[in-house]
Amino acid sequence: MTERPKPSADADPTRQALTKVQIDAGQQGMAPISFLAFAKDEPCLCDVFLPVVDPASKAVTMRLICPQGQAFKAEVWDHFSRSGLRGVCVKNLDLPLIFDAMTTRAQEKIADSAVSCPEKAGILKEMASMSVRVMFAASERDAENTELACCLAQRTVGMLLKEDEVLRNLSQLLVSGRTLFDHSINVCLMSLVLGRRLGLDKGRLLCLGLGALMHDVGMARVPAEVLNKPGDLTAEERGLIQKHPRLGHQVLSLAKSMPYDALNVVLNHHERADGKGYPTGVSESSIPYLARLVKVVDAYDAMTSPRPYRAALAPTEAAVMLLNQAGPDLDHAMAVEFIRMHREAFR
Ligand SMILES: [Fe+2]
Repeated sequence: MTERPKPSADADPTRQALTKVQIDAGQQGMAPISFLAFAKDEPCLCDVFLPVVDPASKAVTMRLICPQGQAFKAEVWDHFSRSGLRGVCVKNLDLPLIFDAMTTRAQEKIADSAVSCPEKAGILKEMASMSVRVMFAASERDAENTELACCLAQRTVGMLLKEDEVLRNLSQLLVSGRTLFDHSINVCLMSLVLGRRLGLDKGRLLCLGLGALMHDVGMARVPAEVLNKPGDLTAEERGLIQKHPRLGHQVLSLAKSMPYDALNVVLNHHERADGKGYPTGVSESSIPYLARLVKVVDAYDAMTSPRPYRAALAPTEAAVMLLNQAGPDLDHAMAVEFIRMHREAFR
C-alpha cells in the first residue's frame, strides 16, 4: 500500500488559491463580503451584487440582487443561508458604511445578555472572516481596502478579547471549513487562547490576534496553479510560496492600523529556531515571540487539515508530530502548552 504523504510543520498550510470570483471582484472595484452583513427585511445601506460565473466563458458578471434602500428580503436571505452561499459583493466605496453598521450591530449583540454565546461567537467569526476576505481580494497597492480590512480585524480581535465566555469555548469556536479564510480564523482564535495561557497582556494579545488573522495574506499573490498543484512542488514553485510572508508584510504595511508587532508575526511565521526557515533564515533569538507562537498554531491547523496534495492527520498524530518538531523548528514550551490547551478544550 502506498503511504499517504504526511504533512510537516513547514508544509505550507494554505496552498489554496483565491477563486476567480474574488479576483474578478477586485478588478471590478468591488469587494467580496458575506450576505450576513445585511439584516433580514431591513433596507440595504448600499447596492448588493451576486457574482455570477458564465459556465462557458468563465467570465464573472455582477448581478444586482438588492438595490440600496430596498429591503434584503427574508426569503432571499434564508435561501442564501440554506444554500451555504455566503459571498455577495459590494462596491469598494460602500465598504466603510457596511463595516461600521456591522460593528455597531455586533456591539449591540455582544452587550445583550439574552444573546447566546454561540451566536456572539458566530458574529465575531463572521467579522473576522470578512476582514480577511477583503484583505485577500485587495490589490497590492490598495491602501484604502487594506486599511479598512485591518481596522475591522482590530475591532473584531478587541471584541473577542473582551468576551471571556466566547474564548473559553474554543471547541465550539473553530471553523470546520477548510478554506484559507477558515484557516486564518482558526489560527487567530487558537493563538489568542494560547497567548492568554502564556500570560500575554492585552496589548500583546491584540497584536497577536491581528498578526495571526492576517498571517497568510501574502498567499493571495502566489499563482493559483502553484497553490493548487496536487503533487510535489519544484524548487522554483517552492520559492514562489516562500515569498508569501514578505508579500503579506509588504501589503499590510500600507495600513496605519497594523501594529509593528503584528506585522512581525506576518513576516516571521515561517522562520525556524535552527535558522532553516524563510523568508530570511534568521536564528531563534531573532524570531519574535508572537511569531513563534503563531507558528506552533499554524503548524497544528495545517497538519489537521486536508489539502489537495495530502490527507489530514488526526489530532493525536498531530500532537506527536508537533513535539517531534519542537526544538529545531517549533518552540518546545509553546508546543507543550498548546497540546495541553487543546486537550483541555476538546476533553
Ligand atoms: Fe504561511
